[in-house]
Amino acid sequence: MAKKILVLAGDGVGPEVTAAAEIVLRAILERHGLAAIFEHALVGGACYDATGEFITDETMRLAHGADCILFGSEGGPKWDELELSGTPESRSGLIRLRRELELFANLRPIRALDELLEFSTFRADVIRGVDFIVLRELCGGIYFGEPRGIVCTADGQQRGIDTQVYTESEISRIARAGFELARFRRRKLTSVDKANVMESGVLWRRVVSRIGREEFPEVALNHLYVDNAAMQIVRNPRQFDVLVTDNLFGDILSDCAAMISGSLGMLPSASLSFAAGAKEQKGLYEPVHGSAPDIAGRGIANPAGAILSVGLMLKYTFGRADLCDQVEHAVRTALANGCRSMDLGGNATTAQVTDAVVAALRPVLN
Ligand code: NAD
Ligand code: IPM
Ligand code: MN
Repeated sequence: MAKKILVLAGDGVGPEVTAAAEIVLRAILERHGLAAIFEHALVGGACYDATGEFITDETMRLAHGADCILFGSEGGPKWDELELSGTPESRSGLIRLRRELELFANLRPIRALDELLEFSTFRADVIRGVDFIVLRELCGGIYFGEPRGIVCTADGQQRGIDTQVYTESEISRIARAGFELARFRRRKLTSVDKANVMESGVLWRRVVSRIGREEFPEVALNHLYVDNAAMQIVRNPRQFDVLVTDNLFGDILSDCAAMISGSLGMLPSASLSFAAGAKEQKGLYEPVHGSAPDIAGRGIANPAGAILSVGLMLKYTFGRADLCDQVEHAVRTALANGCRSMDLGGNATTAQVTDAVVAALRPVLN
């Protein structure tokens, strides 16, 4: 059965890196005789300018009908400055997609590739061999909690409100996803919260501990407060295997951890509804970076995060971990040959990196 892939390139460097990722995806599908149907639609600021909404109901219908989504990036100064009210979903196509498709498990794999050790801002001896996953809860927490808004107080001030809230079922489903991932890796799960101050953190820690004790005794679980976790990521990132945390902490810690791989432009992600044990999952695949307005339109963005996201699509939606390995191998070969974009201290353009990756895809044997 042909898979349906909805491509939402978005704003800024989104269309540049998504075009690169689509080229690599089409090349690998063709080589392996895999059929796919591609659909394209507007999202983010580009969609807002055309329709007044950041994603349309029609595009949501396509998203519900697709097997997976390849997403670029959304936003930019032009739209960030709009004074919008309403739900987070009405203010971001990406947030509406995550929430309505229940893509609660966001995998952000952090790796120190040997080819890039000397180009990282981290010391090589600190990061050599790093390989862990930040598992970020994506459909709850302070991004969505009520009440929220900017209100007027009795003394005439404005007051901005956000609410951090997690239910037991939201915590247990992301905890189970974390244990499931760790079970097939090095069997270590680190849960990150702020239980020394926040009630939602107390519940988070209690629920993760219970799931671990009752359902995954073979996985070693430890807990860190988020401030310590930030420091530990910088001090000794090799200690982590799977790091599970909430929506906001995961957003912040993953951008920080991205620098272990040399650049934010290297980091891919998969957002899954995570049916445990299912070989083929519905997912949204996107680089972790944003629209990078400071470099957009110049053809110099690093497409590796988007290309590696295609690898995750092949692994989780196509059930082809072997093809994910091939994409990673091709990216590493391109880097080993010195094809590095500006963020990695090189001068290769987006197109040159893309061509080098395609050239490095292994030929099909037989
Ligand atoms: P950003 O991730 O866009 O950029 C941060 C820095 O990293 C910039 O200096 C940028 O040039 C660099 N960078 C990012 N991607 C790169 C790449 N592929 N190659 C080389 N360098 C790269 O974050 P920001 O500047 O805080 O946000 C810009 C806009 O993007 C905002 O509107 C924000 O809301 C939005 N955003 C969207 C997403 C998303 O769609 N998933 C994620 C983060 C930010
Ligand atoms: C990310 C981004 C998004 C988030 C924004 C663009 C809504 O920063 O995917 O990391 O905060 O989740
Ligand atoms: Mn982010």
